[in-house]
Amino acid sequence: MNATADPHRIAELIRQEHRELKSMVGQLHSVCPCAQSRRDCSACETPKAAGCEQAVARILEEVFVFMVDHFRKEEMAMRQHRLDLLDRPACEGHREAHAEITEHARHLIADLSPQSVLSNVHDLAGLLDGWIGDHVADHDHRLLGLLGVEHHEPGAVARASAN
Ligand SMILES: [Fe+2]
Repeated sequence: MNATADPHRIAELIRQEHRELKSMVGQLHSVCPCAQSRRDCSACETPKAAGCEQAVARILEEVFVFMVDHFRKEEMAMRQHRLDLLDRPACEGHREAHAEITEHARHLIADLSPQSVLSNVHDLAGLLDGWIGDHVADHDHRLLGLLGVEHHEPGAVARASAN
C-alpha cells in the first residue's frame, strides 16, 4: 500500500512535512537574522555576507523540490480518494493554489541576484509564510476534512483565525 492510500498515513505525512517546512523558515532566518530590520545588505557587517546569495539560492532550491513533491502527494491523495466527487470546487481551488505557489517560487528563482539578496529573502519568507499560514489553514485543513481525518495543526488554524 502506498503512502497516500491510508487517510491517516497521508495525514501524518502531510503534518510531518509541514513541520519540515517550518524548519526551512528557521534556516532562512538563520542565513539573514537582520532581514526584518534592513532594506538592503549595504550595512551588513557579517563576514559571511558574500556567501548569502548561495545560501539563499540553496534554500530556495530545497524549498522548490520539497514543494513540488509535497503538492504531488496531496494531489495524489485527492485522486486516490476521489475527493473531487465529494467537493470538486474545494479540490480545484486547492490545485490552483498549488499552481500559484509553484509559479511564485519559479519567479523567485528567476529573480535571484547578488544585488537583491535581502529582497530575495523577504520574498521567500513571504511565500513560506503564506504557505504555512493561509494555505495550510484553509486548503490543507479542508483536504484532511474531506479525507475524514481530524485535523490538528493548532498553529496554522490559530494563525488563520487571527487574520
Ligand atoms: Fe496544499
